[in-house]
Parts: sequence; C-alpha cells; structure tokens
Amino acid sequence: MKIDIISVIPDLLQSPFAHSIMKRARDKNLLEVNVINLRDYTTYARAQVDDYAFGGGAGMVMMIEPLVNAIESLQKTTTYDDVIFLTPDGKTFNQQMANSFSLKNNLLMICGHYKGIDERVREHFITKEISIGDYVLSGGELAAAVLVDAIGRLIPGVLNDETSALTDSFQDNLLAPPVYTRPVDFRGWKVPDVLLSGNHKLIEEWRHTEAINRTKERRPDIMDAD
Ligand code: ADE
Repeated sequence: MKIDIISVIPDLLQSPFAHSIMKRARDKNLLEVNVINLRDYTTYARAQVDDYAFGGGAGMVMMIEPLVNAIESLQKTTTYDDVIFLTPDGKTFNQQMANSFSLKNNLLMICGHYKGIDERVREHFITKEISIGDYVLSGGELAAAVLVDAIGRLIPGVLNDETSALTDSFQDNLLAPPVYTRPVDFRGWKVPDVLLSGNHKLIEEWRHTEAINRTKERRPDIMDAD
C-alpha cells in the first residue's frame, strides 16, 4: 500500500513511521509513506499557502490553488482509492474504518491547518473526512500519523502470529482481555491460575469471558455496534 500525505510541516511526519512495526512494514515494502510539502506547490511569493478568510473573522484559511496543484500533480501518477481530509468535523475514526482502509492500494491524506481548507477543495477533491476524536489539534499531521499507524499494522503480512491484530481490542466489537507475564507472583499479586494451567480451551474461555465483562463494564456502546 502507498500512502501519500500532503502537509505544511513535513518534519512532523518523519519519526512516527521510522520505528517498530511501521518501520518493519516499510522495510518489507508492504507500506510506502511519502510526505509531500505543500509549499512546493504554491506559486505565491514567500511560499504562501494560506490567506485571510472572506467575510472576516480570526484565523487563516488554506488556499485552494496550492492544494489543487499538489493533488492533481500526484493524481497524474497515482489513482487514489480515497482522498482523506483530516479534520475535527469529520467522521470519527474507528477500527472498522482502519480495517477497510488497510485493504486499499493508494491513499492520499491532507493535513489541515489554521481555520481549515477552502471549502471548494472539500467539495471537489475530498472523498472522506475523518476526525480522530472530539478535540482540536493544531494541525492534521498527528491525526494522519494515527491513521497510518492504525491502518499500516493491519496490512496483510505486516503483523506476525505473535502480534496478530485478530486479538486486538475492537476487533469483534470487544475490548481485549487482561494479559500477564513473568513473574507469576509479584508482592503477592498473582497471575490467574487458569493462565498457568496449560489448558488452552479453558484459557480461551476465560479470555472470552474477561473480554465480555471488561467491555460491558467499560464500553457497553461498542458491544452491539454495526
Ligand atoms: N485536525 C485538528 N484536529 C483534528 C482531529 N481531532 N482529527 C483530525 N484532524 C484534526
């Protein structure tokens, strides 16, 4: 999968994909991430990409021409399955969306800044508007990094058996059960006996019950989602 990201602060997007599972996905050529500097696509002086909002009011708006120049230039060589705009007024991102994006070939993400982007870009180029939660970030970069991470780890071949996504929270609309590792007894706080029993059927049953109880208690809203 290829993910292209248009940003005015490309440096912000270097480290998030340079470690751990994202690094492995890129090293294995299962994921390609390219960060495109929007300022390379403006024809305005001093690499300007934003301007005052028509009608007045505080805050700048990202101009249409640099964004369209960048998008159309990228579209010359790549057909995108989706052009995603990261924005607090978008649809809230969740695991189901990550699952479905992970099966796509090419995604383009656009990081907003200031008061947002000229509405005409949204009308004519954006196919999905996504928020990562009900709070406002200073820009879309961290949101794009969240999406790339959540999607990238689900690309077939990225995770191995040990890190399998099938047992993640939110898959099957359940939170994950509690997990333990050595030592068996720490200050008298013991690992549940069943996990040491070697009986895999019992262990699976215990995990399933714990997952259900945990979800009922903490996130009853996801239990009968979709
Ligand atoms: N840009 C600013 N805030 C955001 C959010 N919550 N989600 C996605 N993009 C954003």
